Amino acid sequence: MTIDTAKADLSSPAATSAVASKPLIALKGVSKVFSNGTTALQNMTMDVHQGEFISLLGPSGCGKSTVLRIIAGLGDVSSGAIEWPTSGHDATGKATPEISFVFQEPTLMPWATVFNNVWLPLRLKGVSKTAAREDVLGALEMVGLEKFADAYPRELSGGMKMRVSIARALVTRPKLLLMDEPFAALDEITRFKLNNDLLHLWEKFGWTVIFVTHSVFESVYLSNRIVVMAARPGRVVNDMPVDAAYPREEEFRTSTVYNDYCRKASNALHQAMGANDHL
Ligand SMILES: Nc1ncnc2c1ncn2[C@@H]1O[C@H](COP(=O)(O)OP(=O)(O)O)[C@@H](O)[C@H]1O
Ligand SMILES: [Mg+2]
Repeated sequence: MTIDTAKADLSSPAATSAVASKPLIALKGVSKVFSNGTTALQNMTMDVHQGEFISLLGPSGCGKSTVLRIIAGLGDVSSGAIEWPTSGHDATGKATPEISFVFQEPTLMPWATVFNNVWLPLRLKGVSKTAAREDVLGALEMVGLEKFADAYPRELSGGMKMRVSIARALVTRPKLLLMDEPFAALDEITRFKLNNDLLHLWEKFGWTVIFVTHSVFESVYLSNRIVVMAARPGRVVNDMPVDAAYPREEEFRTSTVYNDYCRKASNALHQAMGANDHL
């Protein structure tokens, strides 16, 4: 492990930091109406505590990506507020937590090596290639790709491209990781492997993760809290803890407790979708 955790904001163990009293993010009655009249989010109130691994689970169109974009500062709210009670603020009063975003598509630059793709966020902050070297190689090591620094995206499998995308998100040492259906396009074996690797990293570094998925199984496997959303208008309909201990390994997928939570989450999702049966 080349990344020096002592230098980063990543060192708090997930298990203890989740109980911090002030939330990292407080969404207060957030609504988002697009200019075409679509209510993508209606009155969403949610506290996110440091160290939580939250899954946003819901059918297509229920506003999951919209929530992530708002949290990332990529879109304004129409009403309500988003607060960052524990983060610093810049001169304009905007909160400045270190956030990284991982999208469903790895969105790598095809003409650039793996190293240069992962360097990008640091380069945009003015960090030279030489100065970034240790951090870039450290991030690649975290996702098991340290030997592929000089490869080009076309030489990599889908799972490896997603790992590069994750390394690029981690290279800035985020406190908050926003992941929008990152593994949805991968085959099941690769997805399970990446699920495990992501959990190991989360346990080690204690980031806060908000993970969007429409897979009940993936949400239960990964998260300690599932927020179920319904569409038209996008809203929260259920907020359930997943009180199963970590580390969670492959055996967890066949355990009774896992199956019980899957049934519970599946029922909540069906209710959420049934809420729109009349549409
Ligand atoms: N830029 C936009 N302009 C208009 N409508 C949008 C825009 N982005 C998303 N929407 C609509 O808002 C709703 C929620 O979208 P989204 O957050 O992408 O849902 P999800 O990620 O859960 O599939 C959908 O009905 C979608 O069509
Ligand atoms: Mg989406």
